[in-house]
Amino acid sequence: MEIKQASKFPRAKSGVPGFDELVDGGFHKGTVNTITGSSGTGKTVFASQFIHFGCETGEKGMIITPSESAEYLKREMMSSFGWDYSGLEKKGMLSIVDVTDPVLRLQKSIDVDPVDFLINFRKMVERKLEEVRPTRLFIDDLTAFFMAVEAPFKIRSLTDDLFGTLRNSGVTTVVTIGTAFGTNQFLEYGADSATMLTRERIGNTLIRSIYVMKMRGSKIANSIRVLDISDDGMAVSSLSPYP
Ligand SMILES: Nc1ncnc2c1ncn2[C@@H]1O[C@H](COP(=O)(O)OP(=O)(O)OP(=O)(O)O)[C@@H](O)[C@H]1O
Ligand SMILES: [Mg+2]
Repeated sequence: MEIKQASKFPRAKSGVPGFDELVDGGFHKGTVNTITGSSGTGKTVFASQFIHFGCETGEKGMIITPSESAEYLKREMMSSFGWDYSGLEKKGMLSIVDVTDPVLRLQKSIDVDPVDFLINFRKMVERKLEEVRPTRLFIDDLTAFFMAVEAPFKIRSLTDDLFGTLRNSGVTTVVTIGTAFGTNQFLEYGADSATMLTRERIGNTLIRSIYVMKMRGSKIANSIRVLDISDDGMAVSSLSPYP
């Protein structure tokens, strides 16, 4: 399938070969895009590749990992694909925000009210975006924090606040979302595009796959595709997992 060029909004290439043709050319610039999937489906790899591709093509990237340390992510990406995040940081192309940094005063403990945490998180993101001015942003799995918020309308309005801040800054964002806690739908509703990563069981074999659930203001391919991860990173195949 060819990528159609005549789209109204400028597009940001995902950097994942084969993905952009599912969404008519890439993410809309300045939008919030979710990648949902259960554990191990490739969410972090997708978003890390989006950032890495940006850095390689001259776009400054920022990564916020609320659940794992910056050091761990750097080691993981070096060991999986040989991507040198430390080198990109040194060159000033990449900024990895460690939310556990005491300077950010973002308390992450069970004693902190989750609504306060998410409000402070949004403010911290706003500050960092102003300071660093990245073109691409990756926020890794926030669902555990949203899960702790009980009232659905609060989850919805906290999501809208955070996503509104991201859109206002003009950055193109990929947010990964786990499915374990059931809050993924709130985040998907609030996003401009939503993509699902799954595993299909065909006989005795598990096949990684991907489909796009929505993209506001764009056509999408209504098909499930095989997703490959190798030493070269992630790629969307033109094949479907089903015969
Ligand atoms: N070089 C590689 N070749 C093939 N597969 C790889 C390679 N490097 C990593 N993987 C696979 O990629 C998967 C990692 O996916 P990823 O960490 O993105 O999942 P995730 O959806 O973020 O999971 P979680 O919810 O646990 O954070 C692992 O299953 C791992 O085996
Ligand atoms: Mg992950």
